[in-house]
Amino acid sequence: MRYGHFDDKKREYVITRPDTPLPWINYLGCEAYFGIVSNTAGGYSFYRDARLRRLTRYRYNNAPFDFGGRYIYLRDNGDGKFWSPSWQPTRQKVDDYSCRHGMGYTIIGSTSNRIKAETLYFVPLGENLEIWQLSVTNLRRKSVRLSVFSSVEFCLWDAQDDATNFQRNFSTGQVEVDQGVIYHKTEYRERRDHFAFFACSEKLAGYDSQRDVFLGAYRGCDNPTAVERGRSFNSIAHGWAPIGSHHVKLKLKSGETRRVIFLLGYHENLKDQKFDPPTSQTINKRTVKPTIAKYLKQAAVDHAFEELRQYWDRLLGRYQTKTPDEHTNRMVNVWNAYQCMATFNMSRSASFFESGIGRGLGFRDSNQDLLGFVHMVPERARERVLDLAATQLETGGAYHQYQPLTKRGNDDVGSNFNDDPLWLILSVAAYLRETGDWSILDEQVTYNNKPGSETPLYEHLERSLHYTLDRLGPHGLPLIGRADWNDCLNLNCFSDTPGQSFQTTTNKDGKVAESVFIGGMFVLAARELAEIAARRSLHSDAEAYRKAAERMDETVRTKGWDGEWFLRAYDDFGRKVGSKECEEGKIFIEPQGFCVLAGIGLQDGLARKALDSVSKMLATRHGIVLQQPAYSKYYLHLGEISSYPPGYKENAGIFCHNNPWIIIAEAMMGNGDRAFDYYLRINPSAREKISQLHRCEPFVYAQMIAGKDAPTHGEAKNSWLTGTAAWNYVAITQFILGIRPTYEGLMIAPAIPSKWKGFSVSRVFQGVRYNINVRRAGKRNRVRLKVDGHALDGNLIPKPAAGVTQVAVEAVLE
Ligand code: GLC
Ligand code: GLC
Repeated sequence: MRYGHFDDKKREYVITRPDTPLPWINYLGCEAYFGIVSNTAGGYSFYRDARLRRLTRYRYNNAPFDFGGRYIYLRDNGDGKFWSPSWQPTRQKVDDYSCRHGMGYTIIGSTSNRIKAETLYFVPLGENLEIWQLSVTNLRRKSVRLSVFSSVEFCLWDAQDDATNFQRNFSTGQVEVDQGVIYHKTEYRERRDHFAFFACSEKLAGYDSQRDVFLGAYRGCDNPTAVERGRSFNSIAHGWAPIGSHHVKLKLKSGETRRVIFLLGYHENLKDQKFDPPTSQTINKRTVKPTIAKYLKQAAVDHAFEELRQYWDRLLGRYQTKTPDEHTNRMVNVWNAYQCMATFNMSRSASFFESGIGRGLGFRDSNQDLLGFVHMVPERARERVLDLAATQLETGGAYHQYQPLTKRGNDDVGSNFNDDPLWLILSVAAYLRETGDWSILDEQVTYNNKPGSETPLYEHLERSLHYTLDRLGPHGLPLIGRADWNDCLNLNCFSDTPGQSFQTTTNKDGKVAESVFIGGMFVLAARELAEIAARRSLHSDAEAYRKAAERMDETVRTKGWDGEWFLRAYDDFGRKVGSKECEEGKIFIEPQGFCVLAGIGLQDGLARKALDSVSKMLATRHGIVLQQPAYSKYYLHLGEISSYPPGYKENAGIFCHNNPWIIIAEAMMGNGDRAFDYYLRINPSAREKISQLHRCEPFVYAQMIAGKDAPTHGEAKNSWLTGTAAWNYVAITQFILGIRPTYEGLMIAPAIPSKWKGFSVSRVFQGVRYNINVRRAGKRNRVRLKVDGHALDGNLIPKPAAGVTQVAVEAVLE
């Protein structure tokens, strides 16, 4: 069953009933001001940091779902009936409901009582504000008198404190209302120099800024007193819960449409210019008023919306494909790329599943996210790499997370996730391949943000490798530390105390438990760094890293091989994890994918064997599960992985993030049919028809789909913010379609299904647009190339002469 459909032309997903199985969200903003918005106008906004600069409130885990948002009420002043065109929060009957989630905007509309209303929400480029553009049309034969009420609930900035520290916060809330603009200024009188504003284009009939007055005691947002009686109270918040609500009266003739613009925004003043007059406690609004005035005009709104459209045209235009499969087309051309940008902006901070207070930017996560967005925003990718590297520790280790507002590592989580530093090498290599900008390696970057500690970025990469080499275990494999990619495989934790964090508790000395996964990753990273070094003519470095990679490759093949597949790890007792000798958790997906990706076992058949074992033991129709058999009970020495009920999350869930590793591995081995088959199993668009089971948005990947051991096999959770986005994007664009940036030029190495007759790609690479046509002539995926009409040996297109901006490529698969 479906709850809507794709509008591929407009790049929208159109939801046609409001009661989706879960709130289906979209993101507003692409630079510094962001929001999440659900299909019923739920969600919240923040400036840069979802935890530290939250503008509006949202109630996570609420019943009903999705409470708190950008609400608009309409009231027929003739009969007193009122409703919300976005269905929530009143949940009155609405006709013709639709929610169009598009690229950086959402349009929600419906018709009730013969009044059609639609609201467009978006954030203009370059501004720290969001626009709500409401259009109301009178479909009745007679004219109508309506009241429009807006409503947001302000968050007192620090979302964590806001939700917990009531003894203080019930006394601190402050607002100002000036010329119809509601300013939220809690703590502005002391150390904050920022405030929020909420403005409206129309003359107000009234306003409210105190929640309890607007709603009335013991009432919810579904029937506010002010709306019910059709008149605001002009309340001013003193403490308690500041809100913003405007009241506008409209008279509409039959057939008439009126537009009302609301602006919600964030503004900072210079410390010594906070007040106006300077001796007062009144906000200096001179700095923000021009912006407010500008966007309350229709022309500026239209212009900003058009600019946003062009922005996405530009970004998405960098890789467009036409294949015989519509799910591939729409994910590659629109939604997967869009999701990659969301992970770039949000990391794992704010979604329906991520409360915005839990995590900052993950070191491992952000480095991987880069793989999916580097071709769209290379300059911003550069900045992200340097920010990440600047939090690296002098030992080469890395803070697991950092806070985007301060760009500093988080001490509460700390470091010692032993895979972390290696991801930096992989992201830098991807950046170099995409951009050819070798200057980044010479950038002076601090360690732990300490001035004076700077070295060139290149040395950061070296220290990353040495971090692993300095921490080898009894078998010569990398010690795992708190965890590797799998945050929940905690081999040094042994926690028997409820509530302890599996990630930060480490009560073993960590000298025994080893990770085969990090072994594979090390081989890949060391090979990458060897290539980078060679290209910088650092030949002895290159030689050393190549040798280190070979040694580890050998260790993985001897100490990390179980007979039919790669082992997962050795535990604190030196026993195997992920082996046929284990009672449960005999085989894990991660090392099969990553070892093959690193090139381990390609020659001696181990790679093929490992992938066949995946197909036999881990693949399901909904995707490939993380391990088998699931852990049926809690294992003290394995940690969080066994804390999840079987089939969920890291305990044998389909952890979509690592499915593309297998897809890439299959593609590398030339197995296009199997690679594509796996790809489609988790492709959200291909799963749209089972939306009732899948439950999450059919237009973006979810982190997890319940595995075969779960009672809800096939049900997705944790949509949007997941490394799945970047890795699937890489898998399909670079390995199945096979258009791959390399140091020498663009490589054409498709591993497509045997029944595809061909496909085309238009891709910008280092300033040149390649228009690539691939045609199947034979059964296999061997490539014959013609570039601008000339036959070329091999499958690599060298960089064209300076000044060339377009290259035409004909590829024949034989
Ligand atoms: C989550 C984390 C990621 C981790 C994965 C597996 O997606 O964000 O860092 O690798 O879980 O545990
Ligand atoms: C939990 C999740 C895991 C995530 C981690 C982040 O362990 O299961 O997926 O990576 O939290 O701290």
